[in-house]
Amino acid sequence: MIAITDLQKIYRMGDVEVRALDGVTLDIAKGEFLGIMGASGSGKTTLLHMLGLLDIPTSGGIEIDGTDVSLLNDHEKTMFRLYKLGYVFQDYALVPDLTVMENVSLPAMLRKDLTEKQYHDASIDILTKIGMLDRQDHLPRELSGGQQQRVSIARAIVNKPDILFADEPCANLDTENSRMVLDLFKEINEEMQQTIVMVSHEDWHKEYFHRIIRLQDGKVISDGTTGTKAH
Ligand SMILES: Nc1ncnc2c1ncn2[C@@H]1O[C@H](COP(=O)(O)OP(=O)(O)OP(=O)(O)O)[C@@H](O)[C@H]1O
Ligand SMILES: [Mg+2]
Repeated sequence: MIAITDLQKIYRMGDVEVRALDGVTLDIAKGEFLGIMGASGSGKTTLLHMLGLLDIPTSGGIEIDGTDVSLLNDHEKTMFRLYKLGYVFQDYALVPDLTVMENVSLPAMLRKDLTEKQYHDASIDILTKIGMLDRQDHLPRELSGGQQQRVSIARAIVNKPDILFADEPCANLDTENSRMVLDLFKEINEEMQQTIVMVSHEDWHKEYFHRIIRLQDGKVISDGTTGTKAH
């Protein structure tokens, strides 16, 4: 599903060079729930941004579903993101002036191939799934952090992306809400064979992952399957 070869990302700031990613080679299988762990500054977000086509590597290759993504132009990248990838961020990143329903519908609306009824129905399905249908007319600020994160997950999966990327989605949540979010990921992973790549530095999140990559100074220092089974 994702093949990464000798990926490097070097930030140059004046004379200082930061090797945020220093030769990462990795394959991610379809349906895998992969955890990326490692200390602060080890390169987790950088790796996620490269895989999510949100930033460009200095060198190395990324293939997603057989497509060498370095060959895509900007428009093709936008379409690739819209149709194939979903994102969940630490700070939810909901649009403050749009209702829950509008936020969730947004990625589906941006696709030009769905009718209004189709994306409305898809949004209703997903809001029902996350238990937020009764909040569809609320604004993000009227919701708790956990509820906002569930809405952002709904938005991320409304287009049924092949890969869901999440960067510390539980960082601002208490344990109970974190579990709710992780259980939702687990359900999505199991029901839809959804590939999920999630950054975390909470040790207890490990029980949810099928496999864990540990980064240190931009390098993979361990890569192993957990007891949790892929489907
Ligand atoms: N835009 C940038 N310009 C310069 N250096 C950067 C930039 N983004 C990240 N870095 C550097 O790259 C390294 C990796 O950063 P990254 O954000 O990927 O770490 P992280 O593992 O996600 O950390 P955290 O757990 O704190 O989120 C760090 O040394 C960071 O300072
Ligand atoms: Mg980070």
